[in-house]
Amino acid sequence: MKKDNKVILSLDKVGYRYEDAKKDEYVFKDISYEFKSGKLTAVKGKSGSGKTTLLSLISGLEKKHLGKIYFEDKDLSKINLDKYRNSEIGIVFQSYNLLPHLTASENIILSMDINGLKKINKKEKTLELLKSVGLTEEHKDRRVLKLSGGEQQRVAIARSLSYNPKMIIADEPTGNLDQETEQEILNIFKRLAHEENKCVVIVTHSKNVWEQCDEVYELQNNKKSNSKKIDKNKEINIWFLFLWYTIKYKRKSVKKWTNN
Ligand SMILES: Nc1ncnc2c1ncn2[C@@H]1O[C@H](COP(=O)(O)OP(=O)(O)O)[C@@H](O)[C@H]1O
Ligand SMILES: [Mg+2]
Repeated sequence: MKKDNKVILSLDKVGYRYEDAKKDEYVFKDISYEFKSGKLTAVKGKSGSGKTTLLSLISGLEKKHLGKIYFEDKDLSKINLDKYRNSEIGIVFQSYNLLPHLTASENIILSMDINGLKKINKKEKTLELLKSVGLTEEHKDRRVLKLSGGEQQRVAIARSLSYNPKMIIADEPTGNLDQETEQEILNIFKRLAHEENKCVVIVTHSKNVWEQCDEVYELQNNKKSNSKKIDKNKEINIWFLFLWYTIKYKRKSVKKWTNN
């Protein structure tokens, strides 16, 4: 499939504050990002920097934010969000969020049913999806409980692909996995972006992950950087005060000296 690198989702000066937070306590503010098809984009940031919050805004779960979010030039606040979530974006979580007592294929078929997919052979499609993420017919009928963490994440990725969304967003998808499995999962996301032209966004604090992405944004905790800014201004003011006194004092002493 040809990569077209079109902007799929963009954030224009987005800011967010939890309702119970203080008046000026924003998790982040003035964020303008672009996520493109055919690209693997990372949003990195320390724990608590607002990565999960940002994903809930992108998926339309949190609506009261500053700025605008556009999906293919359509304002997210003006479109049908259920339809958007059921057809345009696929979400993958750190803890997989599968139903543990169902089999791998049942989890995927359930998601297809919830999303109202009809005109396809669901069993056939499920096997195709599972194979595309490196699982076999043998995994298909195994309960999720009996799959390894890496295998569960593969099922979760296959589930997110079941309605062929343009965009996949993943919240720390390798956070519970060892390094080797992290790489395998990352390779699936790379393939989805580079070969299937998906717009893939991975939120992560893993250096190994963001270093391999095509584009990287960094979320910094605005609360901290704002307070640093204030401190810096204070420092500058004190420094100017000091300079002013020094010049004044020196002038006086120079005058005194020349008068003598
Ligand atoms: N429901 C909530 N109510 C109030 N504050 C929250 C809520 N959820 C998260 N926060 C706060 O928002 C900040 C960002 O959280 P989060 O988006 O989970 O960060 P990350 O995913 O980067 O670890 C944290 O300071 C967190 O305590
Ligand atoms: Mg998080």
